[in-house]
Amino acid sequence: MNDPRSRIIVALDVAGREAALAAVERLSGHVGYFKIGLELFTREGPRLVEEIRDRREKIFLDLKLHDIPNTVAGAVRSVCKLGIDMVTVHASGGAAMLSAACREAQASDSPPLVLAVTALTSLSEEDMHRFGVNGTMEQWVERFARTAYNAGIRGLVASAREISMLRSKFDPDLQLIIPGIRPAGTGTQDQFRTATPYDAIKAGANYLVIGRPIMQAPDPVAAADAVTGEIARALQE
Ligand code: C5P
Repeated sequence: MNDPRSRIIVALDVAGREAALAAVERLSGHVGYFKIGLELFTREGPRLVEEIRDRREKIFLDLKLHDIPNTVAGAVRSVCKLGIDMVTVHASGGAAMLSAACREAQASDSPPLVLAVTALTSLSEEDMHRFGVNGTMEQWVERFARTAYNAGIRGLVASAREISMLRSKFDPDLQLIIPGIRPAGTGTQDQFRTATPYDAIKAGANYLVIGRPIMQAPDPVAAADAVTGEIARALQE
């Protein structure tokens, strides 16, 4: 964790295997983890995960699992066999599902960090009210985070906006993984709760999930190295 590069998780949001492997090749040594999401996984399957792992890269498998405890436990068991480092589940799956996921991960030879997604950033307070949930998005995130933490989860995917609240209410062993990162001077695209790498790390983020600002930069390696510089500055101050 002392190496600022290790805190960068680059999202491999590309169409298929060749583009994914080309990005891995290029960015190897400049970032900590490669994130494989639903689009790439449903297209290329576990084989691509194994190919990237065989290159000794760290993998964040962003499957956002959400099902009954027995089914999620089975999926986590299968995922662990791929030798990945982080996997996501939905906190809204409930306490029993979350503890089943943690138990299953712990039972594997090299347990991945199980991360809970609290509230999708695409959900609004209006959506929550339609579900009959009162209160603010922050209260909703806190409730899900508490359920997840009590069930044994030690990593959360959250927006930059929630870092301070989560840092003030939870033990420091809770790892915060923050998407929606936009280095200073780059566009926000469709993300609206954004933060710069410097601000997110300063606020208490452990890892930053970054897609387009690196993957679509004219020089992705230079873009990743610039993020590393920002992270290093935030850690030093
Ligand atoms: O290109 P960009 O940096 O916006 O990509 C962010 C990545 O993080 C995408 O893969 C997106 O699916 C993911 N993500 C997110 N917001 C969340 C959870 C994951 O943007 N709440």
